[in-house]
Amino acid sequence: MSSDRIYPAQRPESMDAFWMPFTANRQYKQRPRLLASAEGMYYVDVDGRQVLDGTAGLWCCNAGHGRREIAEAVSTQIQQMDFAPTFQMGHPLPFTLAERLVEIAPAGLNRVFFTNSGSESVDTALKIALAYHRARGDSSRTRLIGRELGYHGVGFGGISVGGMANNRKAFSAQLPGVDHLPHTLDLGRNAFTRGLPQHGAELADSLERMIQLHGAENIAAVIVEPLSGSAGVILPPLGYLQRLREITRAHGILLIFDEVITGYGRVGEPFAAQRWGVTPDIITTAKGLTNGAIPMGAVFVSDAIHDAFMHGPDNLIEFFHGYTYSGHPVAAAAALATLDIYQRDGLLTRAQDLEQYWEDALHSLGDHPNVIDIRNTGLVGAVHLASRDGAPGTRGYDVFEECFWQGAMVRCTGDIIAMSPPLIAEKEHIDQLIEILGRVINKAN
Ligand SMILES: Cc1ncc(COP(=O)(O)O)c(C=O)c1O
Repeated sequence: MSSDRIYPAQRPESMDAFWMPFTANRQYKQRPRLLASAEGMYYVDVDGRQVLDGTAGLWCCNAGHGRREIAEAVSTQIQQMDFAPTFQMGHPLPFTLAERLVEIAPAGLNRVFFTNSGSESVDTALKIALAYHRARGDSSRTRLIGRELGYHGVGFGGISVGGMANNRKAFSAQLPGVDHLPHTLDLGRNAFTRGLPQHGAELADSLERMIQLHGAENIAAVIVEPLSGSAGVILPPLGYLQRLREITRAHGILLIFDEVITGYGRVGEPFAAQRWGVTPDIITTAKGLTNGAIPMGAVFVSDAIHDAFMHGPDNLIEFFHGYTYSGHPVAAAAALATLDIYQRDGLLTRAQDLEQYWEDALHSLGDHPNVIDIRNTGLVGAVHLASRDGAPGTRGYDVFEECFWQGAMVRCTGDIIAMSPPLIAEKEHIDQLIEILGRVINKAN
């Protein structure tokens, strides 16, 4: 490849045209944080400064950065065949990938529908749920239930069941017939719990109240993240997910776990469903599927749901849904190479080995100024800071930004600092991350 076709990782001459997603554009462009390269646990910015990746990119680079095997698989595939359709056509890789994926999925979730992102996985899952009931002649089941503070991407389906106010309120055209369970953040009873909180399983019982209000025969599905990542690492109380499963099963309502963040090892098993012993009917994933290298999502569906579609004459399309790039060959190659790494290096369960160290390190920040809660499970955690009077979110943002200049990338949601390092992290990386964060929190007034 001639080098003039490789774009240099330098500061761009102008930054006006790119309207950045989920970003305070004007603030960012005054002092941009520009990443130029990445290897292992570290980014390097355009000025050559090393930045420890405390967030696996955006919860996706679980195997760390610069994995040659993924780059080679992508490069080989793109040269062999750049694209092939999967509508009434096919090519081998998504078939192979789907078989590999169901091997690591919870038992019974043996069918895989490919998408390009978490948002698309969510909308796909919601459509499968609605169409499933209809296919069975249960077409009054049209209501969907999400949860307050849930994040399910940015499609109209996802923002409708999602519960983060800012992502919803500017967009009036949401799905009708959606309700939200209460969120499970309870600082009063659960602050500074190590691992899953003790209190709050009864919050799942609100589902019973919604069933009484609407009638189970009108409810299609409940969708929750096993842990809410984007809202600031809000954990499921012990017994809560089990309770949701019992209630949904008793009433013929599908349970969807949105595992776009928790999938592929984040909480110490391939999926949170396995770690917490609750099998939903559908699981949505993306992000870690390809280690973030190429966009791709996958929706895992139970045999029972899939089979309900497989009726009528063989020449009929069973499900009128799909994306041009569903099962894209290059993405599938990236995913296969990623799975090889995850399995060879034991990364899908490694978060459990590191969990105790991670927990102790995070909770060492408990006595720092303005820290009002610390939450952790697997290799994910959050430090919840008190808001400044009249200026919510500013302390969290200042800490996030200063951490970057001090050499660590974390995330902030309001005044919550969230972290999810790559699953290849060693103890010294955890030490470095916590040391920088602690130092910055101490100085943030
Ligand atoms: C639980 C969950 N669902 C869906 C999404 C949306 O994924 P994407 O940004 O790939 O559309 C995210 C993204 O963070 C997520 O955390």
